[in-house]
Amino acid sequence: MASTKLTDVKPRVMVLGGCGFIGRNLVEFLVDNDLVSSVTVVDKVPPQTAWLDRKHQEIFDSQKVTFKSANLIIPASCENAFLDEGDPIDFIINCAGETKYGQTDPVYREGILKLSLNCANLAAKLKVKRYVEISSGHVYQNDKVAHKETAKLEPWTFVAKYKLMVEEELKNVTDLNYVVVRPAIVYGKGDKNGIVPRLVTGAVYRQLGEMMRLLWSKDLAMNTVHVRDVCRAVWLLCQRHADGGATRGQVYNVVDMGDTTQGCISAIVSEIFNINHDFVGSMLSSVYKTDLATVVDEINDKHVAPWAEACANDGIENTPLTPYLDGEMLTNHHLRLDGTKLVSTLNFIHDIPKINKDSVKEILDDYVEMKLFPKSLVL
Ligand SMILES: NC(=O)c1ccc[n+]([C@@H]2O[C@H](COP(=O)([O-])OP(=O)(O)OC[C@H]3O[C@@H](n4cnc5c(N)ncnc54)[C@H](O)[C@@H]3O)[C@@H](O)[C@H]2O)c1
Repeated sequence: MASTKLTDVKPRVMVLGGCGFIGRNLVEFLVDNDLVSSVTVVDKVPPQTAWLDRKHQEIFDSQKVTFKSANLIIPASCENAFLDEGDPIDFIINCAGETKYGQTDPVYREGILKLSLNCANLAAKLKVKRYVEISSGHVYQNDKVAHKETAKLEPWTFVAKYKLMVEEELKNVTDLNYVVVRPAIVYGKGDKNGIVPRLVTGAVYRQLGEMMRLLWSKDLAMNTVHVRDVCRAVWLLCQRHADGGATRGQVYNVVDMGDTTQGCISAIVSEIFNINHDFVGSMLSSVYKTDLATVVDEINDKHVAPWAEACANDGIENTPLTPYLDGEMLTNHHLRLDGTKLVSTLNFIHDIPKINKDSVKEILDDYVEMKLFPKSLVL
């Protein structure tokens, strides 16, 4: 009988926040491609209430996936999730954290900084081969240039501010072979906060039968990356664990090659919903800037009723998708990342090098099938 070589044993992986958008796609990627012997998903939200689509439900039901309920902010709950694993875990990927807009500072401090450090310290105790921290691409200065990982840091969202603190603190966690990923706007099936708010807005203007008017200009940089490429990049970085200490603390931007702008996303949205759009322009938007909160309130007031009407017309009673936009999503900050480090040092090749109508429509079709998005508005 042939003996099983050690190298034949596939890795065991833990995905923190595995019921979230990036997490569920990572679990799918690992299981579908038969890359792992098991995946432990840790989340405070159970899969049953996480709005998983049929494919993700099947993946989560597979024998390879185990779900553990834990609130990772609470040390005892976190320890329960980490320390009764039995066989050693090879890789841990942290996709968990507070991602909702409009929360208070202490909520982000707990939900990002405390959570990530609880997890990192326990991962160090487990001596995992690789720990991947999903940080944010919003940590760089607001200027038009494409930022390399070494560029000046000046986070401009609440989430990014605390993500950067996590990155700093990770340096002090000894015995942790970690790597930091800074993604651009991530999109794909299950997205809610990336480009989906723009899709819901497009649907609202189709329902209203009006031109969609957007703040700022078409040139506002809103770089993107497909979630599948984020998963592939994460896995590639896990594979590099053999480099050991040499790569501890490395940081990688993860962004597609398309240099996506607001103009590019709006063109796709307009095509999908057969609407017209234009831009208010920087001069007028700057006037709004002095009272962005009021402008945002007015926009939200305008969008809520037609969205509710469109959902009602299609018999949708409950959906996690909302037309609500937070002020943080509407600022004129450029998100432009230089992803050449991942491409040139690790030979990463994108599956989806540029955002396009098909890769966006896939998200909508999925939500339509789940009866979470009004079918009658999508062409
Ligand atoms: N989606 C993007 O465009 C994007 C871009 C850059 C960075 N990121 C970062 O990537 C990570 C994953 O993002 P996402 O879009 O999948 O977010 P998400 O909100 O869809 O998923 C986060 C998951 O973490 C879980 N979680 C939150 N607090 C928890 C707690 N206290 N205990 C246990 N579980 C908890 C949530 O239940 C959720 O399932 C986040 O840190 C986010 O800031 C996302």
